[in-house]
Amino acid sequence: MPRRARIRVLAVALFTALLGALLPVAGAHAAARTVQGGRLDWGLKSSFQSYITGPIAKGSYSLTGGAATTGASQFRFHSATGTYDGATGAFTSSFSGGVHFVGHRKSDGSHELDMTISRPTVRIAGGSGTLYVDVVSKVKGTGAVTSSRQVPFATLSLGGINMKGDGNAVTLNNVPATLTAQGATSFAGYYTAGTALDPLSLSVDVAPKKAAAQPSASATKKAEAKDEKGKDKKDEDEKGSSGKLQDGAVDWGVRRTFREYVTGDIAQGEWKLGDGAQDGGALFRFPDGEGSYDKKKQTLDGEFTGSVHFTGEHGLDLTLARPTVTVADGKGTLRADVTSGKKTTKDTALVTFAVRSLAAKDGLVRVDEAPAVLTASGAEAFGGMYRAGVAMDPVSLAVAVEGDVALPALPDLGSAGSTGPADPSPRAAAAKPAAQGGSSGLSGGAVAAIAGGGVLLVAGAGLAVVRMRKRSSADG
Ligand code: HEM
Repeated sequence: MPRRARIRVLAVALFTALLGALLPVAGAHAAARTVQGGRLDWGLKSSFQSYITGPIAKGSYSLTGGAATTGASQFRFHSATGTYDGATGAFTSSFSGGVHFVGHRKSDGSHELDMTISRPTVRIAGGSGTLYVDVVSKVKGTGAVTSSRQVPFATLSLGGINMKGDGNAVTLNNVPATLTAQGATSFAGYYTAGTALDPLSLSVDVAPKKAAAQPSASATKKAEAKDEKGKDKKDEDEKGSSGKLQDGAVDWGVRRTFREYVTGDIAQGEWKLGDGAQDGGALFRFPDGEGSYDKKKQTLDGEFTGSVHFTGEHGLDLTLARPTVTVADGKGTLRADVTSGKKTTKDTALVTFAVRSLAAKDGLVRVDEAPAVLTASGAEAFGGMYRAGVAMDPVSLAVAVEGDVALPALPDLGSAGSTGPADPSPRAAAAKPAAQGGSSGLSGGAVAAIAGGGVLLVAGAGLAVVRMRKRSSADG
């Protein structure tokens, strides 16, 4: 080897060794792992919810982007994506879905108070945490609409808990949150910086270490869908003009308050999905679309499979099955076979929705969250509990007009499952007390235990809990 080359090799070797010595932790745990799948449960502020729906604002809220409600007035955001570095404890996770609040209705039908909070992101580094959200809100008085992306909205009190670990899931329970100055601007001066908001909880899956380079099945699917989008699709309109549907799904949550009534104190019931219907948390997916689409006429006829069966106290027994969607003259109608008790009424029109235009993009014709209103026959299907014309959950439709096109992913709630709020129990039984720094006035101090390679950290009662579960890579 020539002298100069030898010196270069030596220099590189020396530099590498030095780097190794200087950055032992970073070197050992080089890359942050992928967060893929999971949910965030947060009520924003319970007094704000009561104010919105109460006698002063006389308003309501609706859910967007697949967000759901869960437990006692919490909103559930879904499909976590982000990174977790177990060596440093740095954690970033964004969630999908939003909540749209309206109140103080004006005579023209618009609202003085009109605010949407969506896409929450939790970022934790160096022991401090921040919640970012997208905010669209109206300025009180002028009515000017402001739209801000990823505003640092709340400061999270992590209570000195150590986020480091190497488990395959991260769970944070009841983390106290306070409003930031930027967050306060969205509330027309009614809240000031430092106002206590509702605590938040989250539970996400972290890709196993060995498989870190290989994205999970759902990540692959999403990436494929993205690749599809990235392709040059100039001929799209020609290709996806008309004809037989290759596949498709209609997503509809019926009505949020109906789902809450079914599982709530009054009906104490449940729903069961059948014939391939899927549960997306706040919506039901009816798959296997067949039918036809005519671009020129702007019409669509789709038949889907699956059923949802609601049962509960006081004789609640309602099944909606085999929905169909027709679109013509700018109007969509969702129908289903309705079975109430033993009586079935086939192909009953349930809701209608406006469809501005039907066009294929990336092989899919989509209608996203079209606001839907109940028909007269739909009102009958719900036993007259709702009047014709009331708002029901929005309808989303995706039909493939080409083969091999991925349908939009359903909300991904992570391996912690879709039922119930994040586990509030601190799992203290598994924890051994250790000298873990609890600098934040945690009443019970903080305890930590290392079990099976995973780190379990438990903070004082009622405050924050971080739990990192060790799971087999099979379920990662
Ligand atoms: C016609 C315009 C409005 C009127 C007359 C109005 C009136 C009021 C009143 C009287 C309260 C006190 C409620 C109580 O003490 O129980 C209140 C609270 C509040 N208002 Fe409004 N408001 C208006 C617009 C807005 C707008 C545009 C926002 C922006 C989001 C907003 C956000 C709030 C908040 C955050 C509270 C405190 C709720 C709580 O946590 O108790 N208001 N409003």
